[in-house]
Amino acid sequence: MRKKRKVKILRIFIVLILLVFITLLFLFLKNNDSSNKNSKVVKDSNKKDIKQEKKENVSNYNLRENEEFISKTKTNLNLTKYNGAYYVDGVMIVNKSYPLDSTYKPVNPYKPITSDYIYGEDYLEKEVMEAFIKMKTEAQKLGYSLKITSGYRSYNVQVDLYNNYLNRDGKEAADTYSARAGYSEHQSGLCMDINGTNENFLNTETGKWVNENAYKYGFILRFPENKEDITGYNYEAW
Ligand code: DAL
Repeated sequence: MRKKRKVKILRIFIVLILLVFITLLFLFLKNNDSSNKNSKVVKDSNKKDIKQEKKENVSNYNLRENEEFISKTKTNLNLTKYNGAYYVDGVMIVNKSYPLDSTYKPVNPYKPITSDYIYGEDYLEKEVMEAFIKMKTEAQKLGYSLKITSGYRSYNVQVDLYNNYLNRDGKEAADTYSARAGYSEHQSGLCMDINGTNENFLNTETGKWVNENAYKYGFILRFPENKEDITGYNYEAW
C-alpha cells in the first residue's frame, strides 16, 4: 500500500516537472520569435534607409540600364560602374584607382581604311577617331603631320607590354611610365600617342600646335609635366 502511494507521488512529481519544462519552452520560443520579428523590422527599415540614401545620392544623375551606383566621390560626383568601366557623372575614368575589366573593348571600334593614321592593327572608339581625323586634317592644312603611334591596346597587349618593362627596368620604375593591364587608358580606345614617344614633342612646331589646339577636338594632354603625384605617371609629351 505504501509502495503504491510512493509511485503515485512520483508520477505527480514527473508530470509537474514536465509541465514546468513545457511552460518554459513555450515562453522561450515566444520570446525568440518576437525578437526575430523586431530585428527583421530593424533590418527592413535599414534596407529602406539604404535604398532611400542611394536614391537621394543618384538623384542628380540618371543611371543607364545595367549601370550600378557605387558611391559619391569626395567632390560629390556620382561614381558608377557600367559595362566593365567606371564612370564619374557619366564620364569614363581609367587610372591607377579605377581599372577597366579585362574584357573591356571599345564599344564602337573604328579602324580607318588607310594605315596612315595608325601603326599595327590598332583602332579607336569611332567618335575619338573621327575627332582625331578632324584635328589631323586641320593640322595638315598648316603643314603639320600627325600620326597615331599607339591607339587602342587590348588587355593582353598591355600584359605583354608591362611585363617587358617589368623585366627590363623592375616594378618600381615600370610603374612610373607604364600602366598595368586593365589600368591603361589605351584599353578604352579613347586615347592615343601622337608622333612617337618623344619627350621634346611639345617643343617642336607640330607639338606646340597640338598642345594649343587639341582641346578644340576634345583632347587633353593626359600626363603633364610636374603632375606626376596626381596622375601617377611620368610626363608624356605625346
Ligand atoms: N603610358 C601609359 C601610362 C600607359 O601605359 O597607359
